[in-house]
Parts: sequence; C-alpha cells; structure tokens
Amino acid sequence: MESLWKTRKTVTAIALILLFLHGVASNGFVSHYAAHPGMRYSNVSSETAEPTLGVCGIKCVMQTPPCYAFNYRESDGSCQLVINGRSGLVEANGFKSYVQRLCLTEHPDIANARASFDGWSGEYPAPAGGKVSFRCEAANGFSDGSFLHVATCSSVSPDTWCSSFQEDAVHCEQSQVSRATARIQTDHKYPECRLTEKGREYIGRANKTESGKECLRWDSQPNGKPDDFFPNVTYDGHFTNLDAWSHKNYCRNPSGKERPWCFVSHQMGVQWEYCDIPMCTDTSKTLTYAGFSL
Ligand SMILES: *[C@@H]1O[C@H](CO)[C@@H](O)[C@H](O)[C@H]1NC(C)=O
Ligand SMILES: *[C@@H]1O[C@H](CO)[C@@H](O)[C@H](O)[C@H]1NC(C)=O
Ligand SMILES: *[C@@H]1O[C@H](CO)[C@@H](O)[C@H](O)[C@H]1NC(C)=O
Repeated sequence: MESLWKTRKTVTAIALILLFLHGVASNGFVSHYAAHPGMRYSNVSSETAEPTLGVCGIKCVMQTPPCYAFNYRESDGSCQLVINGRSGLVEANGFKSYVQRLCLTEHPDIANARASFDGWSGEYPAPAGGKVSFRCEAANGFSDGSFLHVATCSSVSPDTWCSSFQEDAVHCEQSQVSRATARIQTDHKYPECRLTEKGREYIGRANKTESGKECLRWDSQPNGKPDDFFPNVTYDGHFTNLDAWSHKNYCRNPSGKERPWCFVSHQMGVQWEYCDIPMCTDTSKTLTYAGFSL
C-alpha cells in the first residue's frame, strides 16, 4: 500500500513536470519563434537528435548557461543549440532557426557614427527593446540631414532590428567628422558649449534638438511646469535672469535633466528632447556669470 502511494506521488510529480515543460515549450513564458527563413544560426555548441521541435526547445530552455536559440531539422530531428552570446547566420541546410525575444545577430550599423546603448550593455544577446543610438558629428549630421538614428531590437518579431535608417542608404562622413572634431577643439568657447555635464549654466544659442527638431519658446510654457522643475521655485525662477522670455527657444537645462534640452512639437503633442551641446574645450579663462564662478 505504502509503495503504491509512493509510486502515485512520483507519477504525479512527473506529470506536473511534463505539464510544466509543455507549457514552457508551447505557449508558456519561454516561447521560441521561428526566425530567418532560409538561414540558421552558425555558433552551435551541441548537436543531438530529438524527436520533436518541442523537445529541442525544452533542451534549449533547460541548459546552463542558458541557450539563446536553436536550429531544428524536421527530416532527421537534428537539434543544434546556440549558447554563444552573438551568432552569425549561415545557409539553412534543411534547418529552421528559433529564438526567444532576443537579438543575437548584429545590429545595423553606420560607419563613422558614434553608437551608444540604451536598455542593454552592447553585449549579445540584446534584449527585446534594447536600443542603439547613432550620432554623426559631421557639421550637417547624417547624409539624410538628421543628427540621430536609432536601431531597436524588436519585441514582436524574432531576432529583428527595427531601425530609423536603411544600412548603406545613410552615411556619416569620416573626413567631415575629423574636420568637425578638429574645429570643435578650437571653436567651442563658452557660451556656445557647456562647462558641466548637466549644462545648467549653458546660455548659448543652439535652438535644435539632437534629432534636428526646432525648439519651442520657453516663455510659451508649452508643457506647463513639468515634474522635474522644482516645486518651490516659480517657472521663470528656473532661468538665469529669472525670466523665461529672454531664453527664447534656446536649449537650456532649467530643470533636473541630464543635459540641456527643450520642448518640441510632436504628433503626440508637446514633448521634450535633448540637445547635443558640446563640452567646452577652451576653459583657460575663469568664467563668471551673475556673480557665480562657473
Ligand atoms: C562564434 O563564437 C566565437 C567564439 O566565442 C566568436 O569569436 C565569434 O565571433 C562567434 N561568431 C559570430 C558570427 O558571432
Ligand atoms: C535657430 O537658430 C538659427 C541659427 O542661429 C537661426 O537662423 C534660426 O532663425 C533660429 N530659429 C528660430 C525658430 O529661432
Ligand atoms: C528648492 O528646493 C530645493 C530642494 O528641493 C532646494 O535645493 C532649493 O534650495 C530650494 N530653492 C528655494 C529658492 O527655496
């Protein structure tokens, strides 16, 4: 009697595990999605024969360290696990490739542009929603006139980068970049540059955001008094001279944001965006403004 009870318990446990794995493999929280028709991932760490796609997916999920993706070939049940952080693609050879909501393949790139990562470290795999921002330091920005391009790892479609540009269609000129950089070295004198990271002292005349949008006038108070303004200070009190009017539509950091910014109009109403204000390279003089030394 006792041993039968034990057996029953074991059977229940196995059934529960199988149910769990079934959930994981089919529509559970760790689903895999078919990616890259006609291709498969190249960095394969193991190859075994498994009866079904689902079992191959379970093998992947149960790996330590985690398996990021796998290739499966229906005809002979070949199951290839991809454990490496980043992977390339090679000819399918009868396989289909499956991945979770991650990007294993390299993000689209723009030669000579400065890339920064948002929502991930730049190490692969990139999480869904991980962003790469590109800035071109050439005087006129990218060849299409913008100053900012972005690529985002899709959270809808497997291993897909959604980007604001087409690779090879947008360029950032190297020669201009170095020329612009050389000019920055000599040209960036206060007040057309910021002395501190936050740039709260910035009183230059830049009036466009880093994506090239025109700034709105501060005195039109286009977005009321946003949350990151100080509650104990009047709206005008956030600006040097204590008037928003004299600051026209110039980039400023009157609030607690990271860098100078301004309001812009947007399809979705008024928004704000950062401005790309260079750091000052000429700090030979001690500068004072309104009695404060900067
Ligand atoms: C495959 O893995 C190797 C070793 O970790 C790595 O050097 C290589 O860049 C990877 N291949 C691709 C296409 O990422
Ligand atoms: C923005 O600044 C540029 C250059 O100083 C100027 O030509 C332009 O009129 C300004 N735009 C607005 C809306 O003030
Ligand atoms: C307003 O509050 C901040 C802190 O919340 C404080 O640092 C600042 O001195 C205050 N300013 C005035 C004018 O009271």
